[in-house]
Amino acid sequence: MRYRITLVAILLAGCAAPATAPAASLEEASASSATAETPAAFATLSGEKPIIIAHRGASGLYPEHTIPGYEAAIAQGADFIEPDLVMTKDGVLIARHDAYLSATTDVADRPEFADRKVKRATPMGEKEDWWADDFTLAEIKTLKARQQFPSRTKEHDGKLDIATFDEVMDVALASAKEGRIVGLHVEAKWPAYYSSVGLDMVDPMIEAMKAKGLEEAGIPVFIQSFEPEFLAAFAAKSDLPVIQNMVGPPYNKMLGLDYNIDEMTTNGVGAEKSYILNADGTVTDFVQKAHARGLLVHVYTVRDDAPMPGYATAQDELKALIKAGVDGIWVDYPDTAVAVRDGD
Ligand code: G3P
Ligand code: CA
Repeated sequence: MRYRITLVAILLAGCAAPATAPAASLEEASASSATAETPAAFATLSGEKPIIIAHRGASGLYPEHTIPGYEAAIAQGADFIEPDLVMTKDGVLIARHDAYLSATTDVADRPEFADRKVKRATPMGEKEDWWADDFTLAEIKTLKARQQFPSRTKEHDGKLDIATFDEVMDVALASAKEGRIVGLHVEAKWPAYYSSVGLDMVDPMIEAMKAKGLEEAGIPVFIQSFEPEFLAAFAAKSDLPVIQNMVGPPYNKMLGLDYNIDEMTTNGVGAEKSYILNADGTVTDFVQKAHARGLLVHVYTVRDDAPMPGYATAQDELKALIKAGVDGIWVDYPDTAVAVRDGD
């Protein structure tokens, strides 16, 4: 079976706007992230402060893609929360980063599912695991989430459910009702694979967001993916801004993806941070080049507990990225990023 990787990202803008007015355009969504206390000009495309995107929720504190993790991210001041989406056997969108389940759930300890462990070919090679699209939603809902980073707290392991996309949207809608607009930065994972097994993601995503009334609630949305074909198919059916995720060597070659920002027709890029930060502490001209082409630059991922070579702390990384002019930053610890951005 041919298995392609798709990473989808939706970028949402706007954090402090009232819950009443829909963000009808990308410009309005981006402008809504600016507040009166913005301390100084930023080198972003809009000149407004960059958005802080809670990467898989506040995933430094909770198992990724869990409702308390998303809620914590909002409480910490994130502008957007990020659900990665995969599909169940019965065609339900659920919030998971991986197509397989063993890294972030207790599936391996569930004897009733022992015979679901199967080998699949992936772009990274053959992998034996439990795969989301071999499970119905009812079965997925019997699993519990786990923290996959060994150094992070496991106090929530075994207690939290796997969230559906509907449930993640409900978190943003509940926040909006309380007057705190938080966007959704939605990534479709592995869309070409899911299409190949009859589980195309485009219509289910569009219909799910429409059914929830995100636009009416004024919730900004970005759609992101590593797969250009998915973004093109999505953009043909939706006006939501789309972000082309980019990964550098060696994975771009492994995935058969060759990114060229001169040819991109998306609203922006979701760049791995090594496109912008060098290991010697200097920065590249990637942001200027992307901005010159009118592309937003969102960058992933800053982690308090894993600063990249050349940077002593996550704060140093964040300062360098903000100075470079990025328009958004995926982070595992939203409170750290909000504090750096806002000069607290
Ligand atoms: O989607 C971009 C950002 O979230 C980083 O990618 O692999 O963690 O989903 P990933
Ligand atoms: Ca993602």
